[in-house]
Amino acid sequence: MSDAKKTATLTLDGTSYELPVMSPSAGPDVVDIRKLYAQAKVFTYDPGFTSTAACDSEITFIDGGKGELLHRGYPIDQLAEKSHYLEVCYLLLYGDLPGAKQLEEFERLVTYHTMLHEQMVYFYRGFRRDAHPMAIMTGVVGAMSAFYHDSTDIHDEHAREVATIRLIAKMPTIAAWAYKFSIGQPFVYPRNDLDYASNFLRMCFAVPAEDYEVNPILARAMDRIFTLHADHEQNASTSTVRLASSSGANPFACIAAGIACLWGPAHGGANQATLEMLREIGTVDRIPEFIARAKDKDDPFRLMGFGHRVYKNFDPRAKVMKQSADEVLELLGVDNNPTLQVAKALEEAALSDPYFADRKLFPNVDFYSGIILEAMGFPTSMFTPIFALSRTVGWISQWKEMISDPAMKIGRPRQLYCGATMRDYVDIEKR
Ligand code: ACO
Repeated sequence: MSDAKKTATLTLDGTSYELPVMSPSAGPDVVDIRKLYAQAKVFTYDPGFTSTAACDSEITFIDGGKGELLHRGYPIDQLAEKSHYLEVCYLLLYGDLPGAKQLEEFERLVTYHTMLHEQMVYFYRGFRRDAHPMAIMTGVVGAMSAFYHDSTDIHDEHAREVATIRLIAKMPTIAAWAYKFSIGQPFVYPRNDLDYASNFLRMCFAVPAEDYEVNPILARAMDRIFTLHADHEQNASTSTVRLASSSGANPFACIAAGIACLWGPAHGGANQATLEMLREIGTVDRIPEFIARAKDKDDPFRLMGFGHRVYKNFDPRAKVMKQSADEVLELLGVDNNPTLQVAKALEEAALSDPYFADRKLFPNVDFYSGIILEAMGFPTSMFTPIFALSRTVGWISQWKEMISDPAMKIGRPRQLYCGATMRDYVDIEKR
């Protein structure tokens, strides 16, 4: 960020106020309004944060117009093709690609923290059998502060590092066990000889009576799904983690807050909603009916997996995901899968419709991820937990960045109050 040399002028009731303008390393300039209230006694109004930068960050950059997503400067398509999830985790957390020794040590640390405290088994058993795995994950991750309270001191750098490794390492075990619990199968413990993605697949699909042979192509596709979801700058769940942490709350509580936010259908829940929508459409001939509903302002229906707050050209992750869907379905011999047929025809129909073109609505990352996950054998209820486990590294990277900034302040938005002004209390018999 450059020193503010540019300024913007705001004129209010005949008085002008000079506001510093900050220039980032990439992206639009930012008008610094921190002193605005003190000087001019006005707030700014921006519900949904469409024009407001809530922090400065060096982690991820998105150019929505160009369809560009960079992690520490590296484009997501290069990372998805040439790198792998744990290397991307290192990059996000520490700022640079690791050397061979650094990567080996990082992978060793993550691998050796994958087991959960054994008493957490009892915690799982307290949930109802039919609980959604996201509900279980929110609860279990929040409860980590009770099981790992030796790494909750946010002012201790070593404790922060331990919490970081614990969260990344244990999240696949937590998600896999949420799944196992929901289908009434015994928990499968992690194995240190498997890589991150293979370990997760095995914990989901092995049973004590029969081991699960991990297909390397499926493990690579799983790893790519993790990589594509690893971070996405200041989205709703990441901002939730930042806001929760700004009070000094412990990392496990903050990540649990992020998981709760991610569950919503406008955010992480969209991958489940997309597959349910594709199944509901069922056959290609019903697509026009659903396109018409999506365009009808009196119908709340939206095309799930379409549109994005930031990407207004294409979502670079969706491109890689579509290619992965083709590879996985061909491998599994289900490339004539009806859901995939509907997805492809729906994408084509929507992209050639002026309603979607005018509003710059394109398939987002969630449009094809559900098809891959379903083909791998995951039920729709596991789609968002997989997103949550992938995004954990993004949440922690942003949390670490924020906590180590000496200028950190508690987040406290203002409001445009539209309610009643002061009035006297009326006794109940007089109302
Ligand atoms: N289907 C139909 N119309 C849509 C869709 C959609 N999926 N998305 C946006 N629109 C329309 C809106 O009705 C609106 O039309 P109008 O200008 O005529 O009123 C216009 O496009 C702009 O929509 P907004 O809601 O203002 O856009 P916003 O940036 O706030 O919303 C969002 C982005 C929430 C992602 C939205 O596109 C949506 O609901 N998509 C479906 C859910 C989804 O796929 N979410 C996943 C996001 S990616 C992620 O979290 C990983």
